[in-house]
Amino acid sequence: MNTTALLTPLWDYGLIANGLRQHGWVHLPHGITDGLALALLQDIHQHQPDQWDQAGIGRKQDNHTNDLIRRDSTHWLTGETAAQREYLAAADELRLELNKRLLLGLWDYECHYARYDAGAFYRKHLDAFHGRSNRVLTTVTYLNPDWQDNQGGELLMYDEQNQPVSRLLPTLGSMVIFLSEEFPHEVLAAERTRFSIAGWFRNNNSIQNRIDPSQ
Ligand code: OGA
Ligand code: MN
Repeated sequence: MNTTALLTPLWDYGLIANGLRQHGWVHLPHGITDGLALALLQDIHQHQPDQWDQAGIGRKQDNHTNDLIRRDSTHWLTGETAAQREYLAAADELRLELNKRLLLGLWDYECHYARYDAGAFYRKHLDAFHGRSNRVLTTVTYLNPDWQDNQGGELLMYDEQNQPVSRLLPTLGSMVIFLSEEFPHEVLAAERTRFSIAGWFRNNNSIQNRIDPSQ
C-alpha cells in the first residue's frame, strides 16, 4: 500500500478558494486524512513537557504571557519529523494554489502545535490587526480522535460585527481556514486535553519600515 497516499491531504483547492472568496472562511470536516492527523498526534506525544512553551500574547519581542486570555502550550513545527514535513509540504502547496486563485500574495507559512489541557481556553481574539501584522490567513487543524459533542473545546467564530457565526468541534482531521484580520474567535474550555495546529499564511510586506518577525 502506498503510505504517502494515506498521509497527503486531499484538499479541493477550488472549494477552499470559493469559500474564502464568498465568506472569508471555510470549514473542512475532513481537512487532512486520519492517517496524517494520527501521525501528527504521535509526533506530539514524542514531545517531553519541557519542549512546550507557555503561549504568549503578541510576537516574540513583546511576548508576555497572560493566562487570563489564553492557557494553551505551544510547540512550533520546524520539519524535524516526517509527519511535520508532510504537513508543511501540503500547506505550502495550498499556499501556492490559493495564490493562483485569490492573488493573496501569501509568502510563507508558520504553525505550532497547541495543547489545551482540560479547562484551558483562549478568549475571544483576532489573530491579526489591520496594518500591524503579516498574518493573512489562519488555519487551524484538529488532532483529537473520538471527540464527543459534550466534551467542550469548541472554536467559536464571530463575524466582523461580532455576531456568532459558527461553533466547531475539534474533531480529528477537521480544519478551519479564515482571514486573520476579519474573524474574532475563541476556544472554549474542554474536559479533556485538546490538540490542534494553529498556522498562519503570511505576506511579505514590511510594516512601518520593519519586516514583520516570524513567530
Ligand atoms: C490560535 C487559535 C484556535 C484553536 O492559536 O490563535 O485561535 O481552535 N487557536 O486551537
Ligand atoms: Mn487565534
